[in-house]
Amino acid sequence: MSERPSALSGALVLDGVVTARAGVNIALIKYWGKAPARGPNDANLPACPSVSLTLDGLYSETRARFAPDAMDDTVVLDGEALQGPGLDRMRPVLDRVRELGDIAAPFFIETRNTVPTAAGLASSASGAAALAAATARCAGLSLTWGELSAIARLGSGSGSRSVFGGWAAWDGPEARPIHPREHWDLAIVVALVSKARKSLSSREAMRQTARTSPLYGPWVETAQEAFDAALAALKHRDLAALIEAMETSTMRMHASAMGAKPPILYWKPASLAAIEVVQSLRAHGTLCGWTMDAGPNVKVLCRASDAAAVASALDAVAGVGSTLVCRPGPGVTVRVSEEG
Ligand code: PMV
Repeated sequence: MSERPSALSGALVLDGVVTARAGVNIALIKYWGKAPARGPNDANLPACPSVSLTLDGLYSETRARFAPDAMDDTVVLDGEALQGPGLDRMRPVLDRVRELGDIAAPFFIETRNTVPTAAGLASSASGAAALAAATARCAGLSLTWGELSAIARLGSGSGSRSVFGGWAAWDGPEARPIHPREHWDLAIVVALVSKARKSLSSREAMRQTARTSPLYGPWVETAQEAFDAALAALKHRDLAALIEAMETSTMRMHASAMGAKPPILYWKPASLAAIEVVQSLRAHGTLCGWTMDAGPNVKVLCRASDAAAVASALDAVAGVGSTLVCRPGPGVTVRVSEEG
């Protein structure tokens, strides 16, 4: 999209707070691996194309304001001030916004997630998109959606997709919307297997996979095929074809990670048990398919009308703590308020 969204443009916000909200997105076709970067603004360019659905109800909300008297940026995530690598991950977004706005002042940022952080529920994606939108609006930048997506990407690759509502594709510097949320009445049922923080970040896991897994090359080489199949399936609302592409992409991504040295295995016994339930539901006529990201939780794609039945089948799996039914959600929103 090339238009400059009015919600995002406006004067520099000196005496107020900007609040941005961005939804979690789930990749149906996975991003796993980075293209080589020539400069700082090439960070997190994808080695393979991905397709996602942004969800309703699971989001990050970020409040940003300038802190001209502070020595450094402050980022408070769910009540805890980030230090070290956590803060470093946000810096490329903050620095890029300052560079584009020709501003030197540090930011004061508060973020809260409605999802467990770093548990394979893509809170890094919604967090990066909300951070990019809130700080860009604070700085008074006039950006296209694509330009905003490219800034979000600097915080988290998958964040480039959370700028957009509904179905998005990402295969270059910025993601793009492919269908609005109303396009197709599907749901994603999340089976929560663990809320524990993962020990290895997806960034580090991708690096380890690319460096040491003999399965990484074939994963990247075959990714385009799954991407093309998913785009066609989405266009024609062909759920069986979309599920086939999604499960193929997921399995190959995880296989490439499992082939790393040391191996990277996100699956728990309950993850596998949930996958078996999905296979059994499908064998008995409920069209649904599963995917997993950098964590043990299982996300199941199905028709919205089947979501309650899918959720109750997953709730019965030993080791599944709870389930969440999510519908397609909106893109990032931004508002400016007076308070300091
Ligand atoms: O954007 P990151 O660094 O959090 O990596 C996301 C990786 C996966 O969630 C596993 C796949 C994806 O495309 O979202």
